[in-house]
Amino acid sequence: MGSSDLREHALLLNLARVSDAVPGGRPPDPRGAPAAERAAARWAATPPPERFGDDYFQDPLGYFSALRQTRPVAPVLLPGAGGRAWMITGYEEARAALADPRLVKDPRKLRPDWEPHPVFGALTMHLLNLDPPDHTRLRRLVSKAFTPRRVTVLRPRVEQLTATLLDAAAARARARDDGVVDLLDEFAFRLPVTVICELLGVPARDQDDFRDWSAVIVADGGDDPQEWRAAATAMFGYFSRLLAAKRAEPGDDLLSALISARDSGDALTEMELTAMLFLLLVAGFETTVNLIASGTLALLSFPGELARLRADPALLPGAVEELLRFANPLNHATERFTLADLPVGDVVIPAGEWVLAVTSSANRDPARFHDPDRLDVGRDASGHLAFGHGIHYCLGAPLARLEGEVAIGSLVARFPGMSLAVPASQLRWRPSSLIHGLESLPVRLSV
Ligand code: HEM
Repeated sequence: MGSSDLREHALLLNLARVSDAVPGGRPPDPRGAPAAERAAARWAATPPPERFGDDYFQDPLGYFSALRQTRPVAPVLLPGAGGRAWMITGYEEARAALADPRLVKDPRKLRPDWEPHPVFGALTMHLLNLDPPDHTRLRRLVSKAFTPRRVTVLRPRVEQLTATLLDAAAARARARDDGVVDLLDEFAFRLPVTVICELLGVPARDQDDFRDWSAVIVADGGDDPQEWRAAATAMFGYFSRLLAAKRAEPGDDLLSALISARDSGDALTEMELTAMLFLLLVAGFETTVNLIASGTLALLSFPGELARLRADPALLPGAVEELLRFANPLNHATERFTLADLPVGDVVIPAGEWVLAVTSSANRDPARFHDPDRLDVGRDASGHLAFGHGIHYCLGAPLARLEGEVAIGSLVARFPGMSLAVPASQLRWRPSSLIHGLESLPVRLSV
């Protein structure tokens, strides 16, 4: 794959791995030609990268915790297409990096000659690839829809959906001799995707299509440019048709509100509108599915904590924070980059480098959380970085918390005999550096 493919792919959602690397080598010099010699000299001067093996996706925390102890700020060469980024794995440094305005997001600052691709670029120019003032303007337009107060109104609907989905899962389990269902597919995915579809005004019947496209886009194991380009093109076509339909027939939904904001005050360009839809939809389900599925796995792996939560439902809000800290729906925050040399801890990250604040590692840093590899549903997990920190702090956090509480609370209360149907060591994780999510979660729902 050429370096431009990697760039477009990673920027697409800033949900893919490392953007600008050439396999096994160095990213092009951000200041452009005649950069080859300068880049080679700088490359030679920077420390050798840590190499992550092909098993990285199956055990990211193993890699991160080794790094945190030996090289808490280090260049890393990831498997697959071999992208390179600097990883920051300690809590204090990762938190500071997330709020540091010297770490920027907008790719046009790194490469002023970079033009968004007419299709992929239209999906790219969203909040996670923008800095102030564009970021501030766009975030203001959507933030009202996601305040805790606005989200509270959604609770009855989230409870109703949860009950319906769990009824269906229980019926399917009863119909099978072994009583086993894939909780991820039947429930953990269906709940957040239906909620975000309803909020945005996207037909929920199309959820399997955009789940498939998104899975290709955020995967970065065997990175085939044809595959993600086809998925992105299909998604772009789908969004264009949807936007046209909403414009012709507006509804009482967030997408129609965003369109009218654009049409009245020209606050969003067509490209920004498409990118916003892409980000809200995909971020709305690709993450919360993992809070529910990996959170359930964590509870099943610590039966004493599961019993404690079942006995005392008042622990639930705190338990969801602990599950976010412990299970980490994302391995790391999305990419940022340096425009000038940046000292972090004892190390200087050179200009033009991609930087990843490894939030999952920070959440397991013993310098911040006591006995961090133990799930403790009664601990004060506040200050965890699962939703990030700083101006890009997760917009959907109140919604994710609500869904997590209702989903986990209902599962725990309704299926006291629930158990894992395969040994935990047999579970497979998705081949994505950013998304930390199971492929499936087979459980026995004994009632
Ligand atoms: C458990 C579920 C979730 C987790 C763990 C999560 C995590 C995160 C993180 C870590 C960031 C910051 C990334 C960075 O700084 O590089 C972020 C940003 C964002 N999240 Fe979430 N998220 C979740 C659910 C949601 C939901 C339900 C939505 C709903 C639409 C959402 C929408 C967004 C948006 C729009 C941003 C970009 C904010 C900005 O750049 O200003 N997220 N999320």
